[in-house]
Amino acid sequence: MRRLLLTLETTCDETAAAIITQDRQVLASAVASQQEVHDRFHGVVPELAARAHLERIVPIVSQVLDEAQVKPREELAAIAVATEPGLPGSLLVGLAAAKALCVAWDKPLVNINHVQAHIYACQLTREQTVFPCLGFVLSGGHSNLYRCQSADDWQYLGGTIDDAIGEAFDKVAVMLGLPYPGGPALSKLAEQGDPNAIELPRPMAADRTTLNMSFSGLKTAVRYQIVGTGKQDFSAVELSPQRRADLAASFQKAAIDCVIAKADVALKQTKLQRLCVGGGVAANQLLRTELAKLAERRKVELIIAEPELCTDNAVMGAIAWEKVSRNAFASLEIDIQPGLQRQR
Ligand code: KG4
Ligand code: ZN
Repeated sequence: MRRLLLTLETTCDETAAAIITQDRQVLASAVASQQEVHDRFHGVVPELAARAHLERIVPIVSQVLDEAQVKPREELAAIAVATEPGLPGSLLVGLAAAKALCVAWDKPLVNINHVQAHIYACQLTREQTVFPCLGFVLSGGHSNLYRCQSADDWQYLGGTIDDAIGEAFDKVAVMLGLPYPGGPALSKLAEQGDPNAIELPRPMAADRTTLNMSFSGLKTAVRYQIVGTGKQDFSAVELSPQRRADLAASFQKAAIDCVIAKADVALKQTKLQRLCVGGGVAANQLLRTELAKLAERRKVELIIAEPELCTDNAVMGAIAWEKVSRNAFASLEIDIQPGLQRQR
């Protein structure tokens, strides 16, 4: 008899489910994007995201159960769902669905921390444990550094004090007239630009006394390069194709320089020998190249999640097996935790 885990992910704007075996084999995985729902607003509209999850969650769960030919009552060891951090309405849909399935099939519930799951994506391609490590989550909602002793024994070391790096990519992409989500489109445009063409700030990067980061000033600096200092109106602005590409390349390089500077300080401070990086922005090719150079310089092992496991998915919910193996199940009374918990 197979022992399987059903994992659900609805923290932001992807509705995802997966079926994962105890030895971390992925038998089925599905992600329903909401790109067309949010595109015209140039960003995620929380209420629309929650409603879209509501429409997608049952078909997505059915899809993975069918694909892996699961007999839920007999084969599921537990049902796991990301309960923190994320958009409240989106989290609620996933948790309500998971609870309902637990009751229907008489299965235990496991709660997943979405940020920890992003780092756990690094474990999925490795036989050996990736812990302890320095964990760096770079996504649309987070830019956080952690000392990770094990999959769920973590210490927060620092993070953004304003925008997340992915959010900055998305907002600069809007300024350059690119579609949502902006990260992939911006990095593609950057390939035709010169990263040194436009001088942009690297906020907080030179301050080696803190592991905190900031991306909103960099985003504003790009805005001023486009419309002029202090101005807001984009309507009269015509950018030449070369200047657009140069802005994309210069922004991308500046944002990545900030991240690399903090990873460097964190490795030096913690003396951890392994760096694990996950989250949507970790799919960025220039970032991956620069991280590899840093790891080489610092003589540490670098593990970056596979590109398709960087953006939100339910496969990284395999982290829930760690709790199942300790019988650390959640009560059906458990609630969502939308905010990022820095201390436990
Ligand atoms: O991890 P994720 O799917 O969702 C959150 O947990 O936030 O990350 C989404 C973010 C978006 O901001 C998106 O623009 C960014 O990841 N992203 C990228 C790339 N691919 C996705 N940013 C830069 N370069 C990429 N190739
Ligand atoms: Zn995420």
